[in-house]
Amino acid sequence: MNQTIALLKSHRSIRKFTEQAVSDDLVAEIVACGQAAATSSNVQATTVIRVRDPETRASLAACAGGQPYVADAPVLLMYCADLSRSAVACDIAGGEFHPGMTEHFMIATIDVALAAQNAVVAAESLGLGICYIGGIRNKPQEAADLLKLPEQVYPVFGLCLGFPDQNPEVKPRLPLSAILHEEHYCADQVVSGIGDYDPVVREYYKTRTGGTKDSNWSQEMSSLVGKESRPHMKEFLSMRGFQMK
Ligand SMILES: Cc1cc2nc3c(=O)[nH]c(=O)nc-3n(C[C@H](O)[C@H](O)[C@H](O)COP(=O)(O)O)c2cc1C
Repeated sequence: MNQTIALLKSHRSIRKFTEQAVSDDLVAEIVACGQAAATSSNVQATTVIRVRDPETRASLAACAGGQPYVADAPVLLMYCADLSRSAVACDIAGGEFHPGMTEHFMIATIDVALAAQNAVVAAESLGLGICYIGGIRNKPQEAADLLKLPEQVYPVFGLCLGFPDQNPEVKPRLPLSAILHEEHYCADQVVSGIGDYDPVVREYYKTRTGGTKDSNWSQEMSSLVGKESRPHMKEFLSMRGFQMK
């Protein structure tokens, strides 16, 4: 195993940070590593907004359901999917931007995820810890207003960064057999993989919570996808110009 692989496999989200500052140069380098990720058709649809203002941080934490590290982490980066820049380019080139295409929405969102994860790997390689914050999509319009986002831009997630003040164990993943298939999809592998994984996750939660959380992966998924999730999202995206045509 080389160092990069060891680093990737040691990832765990960090939700408690020391007060040690992260220098502006380091943040710039981390975001630049994100920029180096592959990007569909070179669209480069990622915009990153670093939020320092304590009031805005507190409001974003509230959008995310009160997650304290959104307000307190040394660095908060808001990762946004941005087609407005391409629209400006279209204008400059004398063309006409065609808004609302589902494909463009996917391109922009995928770009953001790739750029953010590159940045995460860079940050972790420098000894920093990170936590993604999808919770801001609880109140995406409020987050968009706070960030003064123009049309054709939406906040995908936040990213908290800082030096770790905790050392949680790595969360076990599904067995590889449940996600890596040969030639065609094999449902049997999925069922048996989940069967193997459920007791591992139950044990992980028990250890991590001192026995208070007694649940497995199937139960977690059942409560997650067994009900509506952020049903405001379709209308919110549509209002931002992502109409999903
Ligand atoms: C897009 C995305 C959004 C997430 N949103 C949150 C969040 O709002 N709050 C949080 O505490 N963790 C959040 N997480 C972290 C996940 O819960 C975590 O990655 C997952 O449970 C696996 O744990 P690990 O990162 O420690 O391996 C998010 C992760 C991703 C990829």
